[in-house]
Amino acid sequence: MEDLLKKIEEYKHEITAFNVTDEKQVEDFRIKWLGTKGIVKAIMGEMKNVAAENKKEAGRILNEFKLFTETKFEELKATLTTNNTVTGSSIDLTLPGNAIPVGSRHPVVLMRNKIVSIFQRLGFAVAEGPEIEDDWHNFGALNLPEHHPARDMQDTFYVQTNPDWVLRTHTSSVQIREMEKGKLPIRMLMPGRVYRNETVSARSHCFFHQVEGLYIDENVSFADLKQTLYFFVKEMYGKDVKVRFRPSYFPFTEPSAEMDVSCFICGGSGCNICKKTGWVEILGCGMVHPNVLSNCNIDPNKYTGFAFGMGIERPAMLKYGINDIRLFSENDVRFLKQFTAAT
Ligand code: PHE
Repeated sequence: MEDLLKKIEEYKHEITAFNVTDEKQVEDFRIKWLGTKGIVKAIMGEMKNVAAENKKEAGRILNEFKLFTETKFEELKATLTTNNTVTGSSIDLTLPGNAIPVGSRHPVVLMRNKIVSIFQRLGFAVAEGPEIEDDWHNFGALNLPEHHPARDMQDTFYVQTNPDWVLRTHTSSVQIREMEKGKLPIRMLMPGRVYRNETVSARSHCFFHQVEGLYIDENVSFADLKQTLYFFVKEMYGKDVKVRFRPSYFPFTEPSAEMDVSCFICGGSGCNICKKTGWVEILGCGMVHPNVLSNCNIDPNKYTGFAFGMGIERPAMLKYGINDIRLFSENDVRFLKQFTAAT
C-alpha cells in the first residue's frame, strides 16, 4: 500500500509538469497514461495485491488518480486549441499557407520577347507562318532555284509524303508570305521555330528558333539597316558594345553582311565564348535581292528593303550561362524553373 501511494505521488508530479505544444504530444500522453496498455490501467491492476482491509481506501485513491489523469488530458487538449485558434474555430491563421507553384517562361520565349519588344518600339509588327513549308516559300522565291548550290548552306528535312514540302529551314519563308500579300510598306518581324538536318550536340540542334526582320518601302537604304541594328544592339547589349559588319553571302540579299558585336562576356579582350577574337557573331542581314521582290510582284525599281535574321538560342545561352543547347528541349523542370524571376 505504501509503495502504491508513493508511486502515485510520483506519477502525479510527472503529469503535473507535463506540457504540450502540438497534437502529437497530446496523443502520446493519452497512449502513455490512458491507453489500453497505459500506466493508469496497469496501476489499477495492482488492486489485487492490496490487502483486503486496505482495498476500499486504495480503490478511492486509484479512482481519484484516474480522474486526475483524465482531467489533465482534457486540459492539454484545451491548451492546444486556445493557444492556436480564433475563438470557436480550429483554423490557425498564423500557419503559413499552401504554396501555389508559379509557372515560369521558357528561356527561349524570354529571349524572343526581349528581341521582339525592341523592334516593336521601332514600329515592327509580328508575323507568323507555317513550319511545314513548300519549296517555293522556303527556297524558290528567295532566289534559291532548284539545284542552287546555296541550298546546301541549310541541310533540309524533306517531308516524305510530298517532295515539295520541307520543314522550314529559316523564317525567311514568312517574309515571302508577307510580301505576297502586296500591302506596302512592310515592317515585320518573324519569330519562329526552324529545322535543319544537323547532328545534335551541345552546340547545335536539329531545330531551333529565329527572329527575322523585314522592312520594305521606297528609298530604304543600307544606312537604314545599319541604324536599325545599331539601335537593337544598344538596347539589347548596352551602349558600350561595339558593332562591326562583315561582307557575306545570302542568295536572297545583295549586298549581304554578317554583324558581330564586341564580346559582352570579356569586353573584347578575348575569351572562350568569342574564341579569343573579341567578337561574337549575332546575325545575318542585307538588302533584299531584286529577284526576291519581283518573285513577290513588288517592283524592284520602286521599292527597296532590308532583311535580317538571328538565332534565339545562342544569345539566350550567353545571357543565362547555359552551356548545352539540348537543355532547351528536354523539358527538365529543374532546368526550366530557374527562369521564374528572369526577365
Ligand atoms: N535566313 C538566314 C538564315 O537563316 C538569315 C538571314 C535573314 C540573312 C535575312 C539575311 C537576311 O541563316
